[in-house]
Amino acid sequence: MTDSSDPASLKRAAALRALEFVEDGMKLGLGTGTTAEAFLDVLAPKLRGGMKIVGTATSERTAQKARALSIPMADLDGLAPLDLTIDGADEADRALTLIKGGGGALVREKIVAASSKRMIVIADETKLVAKLGHFPLPVEVSTFGHATTAARIVNAAAKLKYNHLPLTLRLKDGAPFKTDGGNYIYDCAFGAITDAPALAAALSAVPGVVDHGLFVGLATALVIARETGIEVIEK
Ligand code: 5RP
Repeated sequence: MTDSSDPASLKRAAALRALEFVEDGMKLGLGTGTTAEAFLDVLAPKLRGGMKIVGTATSERTAQKARALSIPMADLDGLAPLDLTIDGADEADRALTLIKGGGGALVREKIVAASSKRMIVIADETKLVAKLGHFPLPVEVSTFGHATTAARIVNAAAKLKYNHLPLTLRLKDGAPFKTDGGNYIYDCAFGAITDAPALAAALSAVPGVVDHGLFVGLATALVIARETGIEVIEK
């Protein structure tokens, strides 16, 4: 049993369970978001206790927090292949397909996950869904001609029968939100996503799309925290 149903306790419980997968000497991908940060919070004391790992961050925000916790860090290119990545998600289904990018880090998150032998996703139970798509799918686009790219995304979606796609340029403090890579994000409210691999392929084929938040075939386990306990869903 976890000690409370409040979101922070559930995130910590998932993070603690994921810590059991970490072994001395591992090269770790470190995710982005509040749940991934809960993992950094439980990892740091282990390292003070003598465990040795090296991490690589999926965002500037994570890199900053890892440095503040004295977690040894290195660039991905010097570390890959990674043993394990621990990250959060905006939605996950039981096939281990994910929607990510709510924190704007989807491109680096996908590169790091793809560079890892395993990816464990940690989340509270609200993230586990029967069908992906209630959470608007983040699509990262080049700033150059971004509105025309957005129109092509709508056309690509319509070909897959996602008609009248509501799509919103993400803003921060009244201006377009810029990712660590200097790009924009359109949040695309697909509703129920019926065929994630088909949608992923269609979005990846749109000129101007840098990447999208559908993670297909990357996660190897989900650690879902509920008030009643932890469920680990593996392939
Ligand atoms: C960042 C992400 C995050 O993992 C996702 O948004 C979940 O964040 P949180 O743990 O804060 O709910 O994909 O780009």
